Amino acid sequence: MVIKTFDEYQTAYKHSVDDPESFWAEIAQEFQWRKPWKKTLQWNFTEPSIKWFVGGKLNITENCLDRHLATRGDQPAIIWEPNDPHEASITLTYRMLHDQVCRMANVLKRNGVQKGDRVCIYLPMVPELAISVLACARIGAIHSVVFGGFSAQSIADRINDAQCKLVITADGAYRGNKEITLKGTVDDALIGCPSVQRVIVMTRTRTPIAMFKGRDVWMEQELKQVTAHCPAEEMDAEDILFILYTSGSTGKPKGVVHTIGGYMVYAAYTFQNVFQYKHDGRTGPQVHFCTADIGWITGHSYIVYGPLACGATSLLFEGVPTWPDAGRFWDIVDKHAVNILYTAPTAIRSLMSFGLDKVKNHDLSSLEVLGSVGEPINEEAWHWYDDHIGKNRCPIVDTWWQTETGGLMISPIANVTPLKPAYATLPLPGVQPILVDENGKEIEGNGVSGNLCIKFPWPGMLRTTYGDHERCKQTYFATYPGLYFTGDGCLRDEDGYYRITGRVDDVLNVSGHRIGTAEVENAINMHTGVVESAVVGYPHDIKGQGIYAYVIIDQPPVDNDTDLMKRDILATVSRIIGPIAKPDKIQFVVGLPKTRSGKIMRRILRKIAEGELGNLGDTSTLLDPAVVEEIKEGVV
Ligand code: PRX
Repeated sequence: MVIKTFDEYQTAYKHSVDDPESFWAEIAQEFQWRKPWKKTLQWNFTEPSIKWFVGGKLNITENCLDRHLATRGDQPAIIWEPNDPHEASITLTYRMLHDQVCRMANVLKRNGVQKGDRVCIYLPMVPELAISVLACARIGAIHSVVFGGFSAQSIADRINDAQCKLVITADGAYRGNKEITLKGTVDDALIGCPSVQRVIVMTRTRTPIAMFKGRDVWMEQELKQVTAHCPAEEMDAEDILFILYTSGSTGKPKGVVHTIGGYMVYAAYTFQNVFQYKHDGRTGPQVHFCTADIGWITGHSYIVYGPLACGATSLLFEGVPTWPDAGRFWDIVDKHAVNILYTAPTAIRSLMSFGLDKVKNHDLSSLEVLGSVGEPINEEAWHWYDDHIGKNRCPIVDTWWQTETGGLMISPIANVTPLKPAYATLPLPGVQPILVDENGKEIEGNGVSGNLCIKFPWPGMLRTTYGDHERCKQTYFATYPGLYFTGDGCLRDEDGYYRITGRVDDVLNVSGHRIGTAEVENAINMHTGVVESAVVGYPHDIKGQGIYAYVIIDQPPVDNDTDLMKRDILATVSRIIGPIAKPDKIQFVVGLPKTRSGKIMRRILRKIAEGELGNLGDTSTLLDPAVVEEIKEGVV
């Protein structure tokens, strides 16, 4: 399944388009199935209904763990680097990881979790997070990992949507010099979550927390009660593996559903090829360091499932890139002889701003492949990454994909695809992109741009949005009938290379985190005294996009302290969504530019936030054009 040359890429790509079923069947055969599938693919994009490896039976943990035991039982599966560089790192071999996953799976069973039950995981980036994810998969429970930065309200919404039965959390988390409460946040969330019967709590920060009799149990004590023997549950290829919530342009985040067989094959295939992972690297199996949190899809696919399905060594880092100083990533690369580094443009830009001093004193010679993900990478950041981190000898794979796609979609293959800075380059085998205009008409040829859609299923794609299939249909398959719509704008240059230009809907990408403008507006509107708000993105040097909020209030703030009121609004947004959704700028306005039908003209607000005051376009259709002048005067 490994592509080694550009010719091989072209041959594989052609095969994947001419005969997708035989292409993917060949790849899927390399995994361990309890029962073979009867039909490789059944699909339509109308309902939509997508099934891969129909009738096949397997357990993904047998593929990620058991099948490696004979050949690489003593190879590191996970290397854990703690937040504090003075704390010892931990290495779990495949045998140790297998043992711990089985124990945790038995703990889940002991606490009433059965096949098909949903389990919410709200943990810091510690080995127990990966272990918990795999323990769910071992017994056929569905995991829903919630990123540790989300608020109690966000956790509650996600738990209720999926009707989770059990929560796995920790007392607290370390992030840089901060200590964050997790259990307290979970306690707040659970006030409104009747489906949760049990909470398993691990100790990390040893901060005092409430433990409620009958509901809360200690992970450490539970683990003492079980053995390491836990046969894997036989699962259907189309059983749900996990739910992961992500933001869209409307309403609350939706639970993207991935199923076992297709997701596994796709995560592993893309991992192996794009990063060209080598078991026989210069110093043994390569070390792959993906800096994402397992709370996002990148962590699911390229810290846990993809690398482990390929028998790779995956590094899991608890902390942040700027603590104790901005050299932390380079310190980790040096310490663990990292070969593949996969991070986000926002991290690169942030580390760039600290200058080269923090890079200089580290040995980065182990690096062989660099990756970028989550948002468009600007050329300046691309070159800095290439010059100063890769020393112009490591290919940069700029990987475009989404929570919904399960795995990488448009991306170079390291040392195979000729690169072009800031381009995601070419579709991977199995991916059939198409650009369309506003009316859904295909834009053919090169040197064009349009809305990016995918016209044929790939194994890793989402199957539904949990509990609301209609929403899945409306969001992804209704805009352009017969196509999966990504929500991204894209250009295809004269060479047929793809460059993603950013979202064309009301979704923001702030430091690589996906946030819906409607979500932020709803949170702001919950603040006392706020009448209405409109949120748009604007270019931000480090974060890629910043959040700009225009807010109408019903009366002047108490003591006329507008600054305090702004901070109160930020606190409200933090409470409702989490700190990642806090606006960077708030402007109080007396009105918003609306059309006669009452629709906010975001185009104008975006231009103002971008500082393009002289270039607002046609404002004649506005109900009250004077509002625009007022907003322009008050720009922050
Ligand atoms: O706009 C694209 C952007 O991130 C969105 C998906 O966000 P999420 O589901 O959170 O997944 C992020 C990690 C896969 C996309 O719709 N995006 C992701 N990767 C890139 C990108 N934009 C440009 N270039 C990329 N490499």
